[in-house]
Amino acid sequence: MKKNIGQKLALYPMPTTVIGAMNGDVPTWTLVGHLGIIGHDRVMVSLAAPHFINSKIKETGKLSINLVDENMLPKADLVGSVSGNKTDKSQVFSYDMGDSGAPLISDSPLAIECSVADIYKTPNFESFICTIDNTYVAEEYLNDDGKIDYGKLKPVLFEFPTYQYLKTGDVIGKCLSFK
Ligand SMILES: Cc1cc2nc3c(=O)[nH]c(=O)nc-3n(C[C@H](O)[C@H](O)[C@H](O)COP(=O)(O)O)c2cc1C
Repeated sequence: MKKNIGQKLALYPMPTTVIGAMNGDVPTWTLVGHLGIIGHDRVMVSLAAPHFINSKIKETGKLSINLVDENMLPKADLVGSVSGNKTDKSQVFSYDMGDSGAPLISDSPLAIECSVADIYKTPNFESFICTIDNTYVAEEYLNDDGKIDYGKLKPVLFEFPTYQYLKTGDVIGKCLSFK
């Protein structure tokens, strides 16, 4: 019998991302580990209500989800340590504008551009339910079939209980092949 350790957040590791939104003419960036997939056409980004970026996402209705690889981890960690409420983070990453109007981090291997469809509120949190407008990936991470090769892309993973970053592991099998 396993030990019951109570009501804990334990669904880890999960991808580390930087969320981007426009703040007038400049971007703002926030590190986020709590996000997920809903159905096959929605993603969810969970943000503490006092964060600076929330009001910018609400103003524009757009956000980007930028996967973090090891190269960009120091800057990603930085935008998770200071708030736009006190410090201007607009210069941290160079960026391009996505077709829908969200800023995309140039150094991120993969960026998803989203429109906000709904906001699910829980105590002190706002979870942004988003539709996916566009997905941008550096071509070197596409395989010969045009699919994203996560073995090459190697997204950094995150876990909350000990607040650490992890490397992506090896492929251990093909789905639906364990008969
Ligand atoms: C590894 C890591 C993961 C984080 N994940 C989240 C998250 O999922 N949701 C959240 O609201 N804040 C998360 N944060 C905290 C924010 O990134 C941080 O408070 C940031 O300064 C808020 O910026 P803003 O006020 O400019 O939006 C995380 C921070 C770190 C270091």
